[in-house]
Amino acid sequence: KTIQWFPGHMAKARREVKEKLSQIDVVIELLDARIPRSSQNPIIEELTDGKPRLILLNKADLADEGKTNEWIAHFKKDGVDALPVDAQSGTGVKRIGPACRMLTQSLHDKWRAKGMKPRELRAVILGIPNVGKSTLMNRLVGKRQAPVGDRPGVTKKQQWLKVGSELALLDTPGILWPKFSNQEVGLRLAVTGAIKDELLDYGDVAAYALQFLARTYPHQLAARYDLSYPLDPEDIGELFEAIGKKRGCIVRGGMVDMDKVAELVLRELRAGKMGRLTLETASEKEVVTDEDSRG
Ligand code: G4P
Repeated sequence: KTIQWFPGHMAKARREVKEKLSQIDVVIELLDARIPRSSQNPIIEELTDGKPRLILLNKADLADEGKTNEWIAHFKKDGVDALPVDAQSGTGVKRIGPACRMLTQSLHDKWRAKGMKPRELRAVILGIPNVGKSTLMNRLVGKRQAPVGDRPGVTKKQQWLKVGSELALLDTPGILWPKFSNQEVGLRLAVTGAIKDELLDYGDVAAYALQFLARTYPHQLAARYDLSYPLDPEDIGELFEAIGKKRGCIVRGGMVDMDKVAELVLRELRAGKMGRLTLETASEKEVVTDEDSRG
């Protein structure tokens, strides 16, 4: 399902989003709460062009709650409202309608001043692949009303799906490309499952994940695999070995099967088995390299 983004795809996505936005009162921007920076489209401000925007930090159930709150404060400081949600279970979803209503108060005032009867608010969901757009739509409108997929390039008549009495949601979400600013962003996207495993070396992604865990969440990592503490984040090979031995990822001859360990670690991390994790903080500066040209 993940899209490989080339300049042509980006231009098309940009065009499609611009088209959608012409009819929209409020934009719902879906980010992954574990990587709010890397899962944000690099030109979201330009794309939404001053429309009221609500950020949803989705998969909040998998993210570190304290860091999610820091992100919300961070966005707020920039004048953008953000809410944590878990589209899968529905936690936080009820707050979306009222938040959209708050953001469009001036629009309502304008309608009233013109003597118009306020109509329902028109919203669209935007976000990178796998961030949870379909899941959220199903949550908001109920499965029966929701459209089947969000395949780009399939043109059909746009429809509005009712969310309560005040909100109407465009039936297809806008699919945006993630940041490609550097290798680290790519690894973070891969760790969370936002980009296909085939695009990067599985072992590299797992090594990155293990080093991150050993540095930032050492207790959670040690507890999960019954590792002796303290861990050495600089010796990733040793971590692979230790986990492999504990979990019986052994090939003939008693050697640890590194591929198996990589697969195990990523699967468990993504499923939240190591507890709630956030890979990037609001306060840390973004690393920008020469590659930062493709956004
Ligand atoms: P998309 O439309 O933006 O591409 O994303 P989609 O809704 O298909 O969701 C991508 C994956 O993320 C799905 O899992 C979905 O269940 C999961 N997901 C969405 N929202 C949440 C959330 O708030 N919390 C958690 N924990 N997961 C969420 P999948 O791997 O495709 O399938 P499965 O693992 O559910 O079988």
